[in-house]
Amino acid sequence: MAPRLSILVFSIFFLLTAPLAYSERRQSFRATMTRIEPAINLTRAAHKSHQRLSMLADRLDATSGGAQAPLQLDGDGGAYDMNFSIGTPPQKLSALADTGSDLIWVKCGPCTQCAPQGSPSYYPNTSSSFSLLSCSSGLCRNLESQSLASCAVGGAECDYRYLYGLAADSHHYTQGYLGSEIFTLGGDAAPGIGFGCTNMSEGGYGTGSGLVGLGRGPLSLVSQLNAGAFSYCLASDASKASPLLFGSGALTGAGVQSTPLISGASPSFYTVNLKSISIGAATSPGTGSGGIIFDSGTTVAFLAEPAYSLAKAALLSQTTNLTLAPGRAGFEVCFLTPPSGDAFPTMVLHFDGGDMALPTENYFGEVVTGVTCWIVQRSPSLSIVGNIMQMNFHVRYDVDKSVLSFQPANCNSL
Ligand SMILES: *[C@@H]1O[C@H](CO)[C@@H](O)[C@H](O)[C@H]1NC(C)=O
Ligand SMILES: *[C@@H]1O[C@H](CO)[C@@H](O)[C@H](O)[C@H]1NC(C)=O
Ligand SMILES: *[C@@H]1O[C@H](CO)[C@@H](O)[C@H](O)[C@H]1NC(C)=O
Ligand SMILES: *[C@@H]1O[C@H](CO)[C@@H](O)[C@H](O)[C@H]1NC(C)=O
Ligand SMILES: *[C@@H]1O[C@H](CO)[C@@H](O)[C@H](O)[C@H]1NC(C)=O
Repeated sequence: MAPRLSILVFSIFFLLTAPLAYSERRQSFRATMTRIEPAINLTRAAHKSHQRLSMLADRLDATSGGAQAPLQLDGDGGAYDMNFSIGTPPQKLSALADTGSDLIWVKCGPCTQCAPQGSPSYYPNTSSSFSLLSCSSGLCRNLESQSLASCAVGGAECDYRYLYGLAADSHHYTQGYLGSEIFTLGGDAAPGIGFGCTNMSEGGYGTGSGLVGLGRGPLSLVSQLNAGAFSYCLASDASKASPLLFGSGALTGAGVQSTPLISGASPSFYTVNLKSISIGAATSPGTGSGGIIFDSGTTVAFLAEPAYSLAKAALLSQTTNLTLAPGRAGFEVCFLTPPSGDAFPTMVLHFDGGDMALPTENYFGEVVTGVTCWIVQRSPSLSIVGNIMQMNFHVRYDVDKSVLSFQPANCNSL
């Protein structure tokens, strides 16, 4: 009887605890994202977005499909920071929120050889909850398999070194050792989050303390929280905080549209199928099998050919009553700013299963005083829905179900 009894006791124990453990793992977190640059300078944003685009594409070429090294980002190009705390007692930090990469890393200790200088560092020696992640940890194994980490003799410390973009560029990297900590997001604690404790870096990573990867891979914050999904609503007013929700925050009600996530150029990216683009009364083809990436870290939007040229032609054919101006900063379709935004044709992105009707401010912007341009650029590689195009939508990334949903919203007043 004894074995059977213990099985029974175990089963009851399991039945009682399993749902609890499950719901604990599904705890939701509420954080915020803040645009670093108060007013987006579209000239600079275009430059930074091109840098990011080529790093994304170079990274894919260099690794033939999948290294999760985060991207070099200069924070003055329209990127978003995320506020959170690490450790016991909590140490406040902010870092770039990046849906285009997976690893979480922050500056650790004095970090005298780290870029950027001036932002706060996290000090593991003053936290009672810090521990090193050993070489046998899943996170270290994952990085090792991508040749991004190596193990010291004994295996107690996992050292990583990321090169950004091309390996030939030795001046963009971050390196240090892996640790595990309690992260506090908007007042709620998440223990056991693996992250990179950076003690050396070169290149520009914004003005914050590091980078929070929100990609689809196992190293990202959304994967480690086991949140299943996350959503944000990017405010067009930079003085407003943009909510970032993990777990809950399901979109409901009128106007919710969904489209499946497809396997794109990298397993980290949130890629969807853009079937066609409507500009005014004209509809032109989408981006084909390459899809289009939703990316929080790229500011302007990019379309690969032939989608770009066909959409551009559709736009030009319906704006003949506006006064053309010379292109600026890679924006090829520019006009003398008309008296009212109503003069521009509508733009709708037709995804597989959902239509995204864009507010005019999401695809037209004043690049220099008196000149307003279509803020979509020609891409030699990937197509990207940048963060300006996502403003004033709830955008929900359901990693578990592989679905991306969106719903128009006034993100400035949430
Ligand atoms: C925008 O950035 C460009 C390039 O950095 C600079 O030349 C220009 O003066 C900036 N414009 C404004 C309005 O700050
Ligand atoms: C984020 O942190 C920075 C620096 O501590 C602070 O100035 C800012 O107000 C914070 N933002 C939010 C939304 O809490
Ligand atoms: C933590 O380390 C820093 C330098 O690395 C040092 O200045 C500080 O005194 C240390 N704090 C404690 C509590 O050990
Ligand atoms: C950074 O950490 C690694 C691993 O602990 C160590 O070998 C290296 O000396 C440290 N570098 C600096 C600049 O502190
Ligand atoms: C230009 O023509 C379109 C219709 O073709 C119209 O909707 C728009 O208001 C006109 N814009 C101006 C500035 O006249």
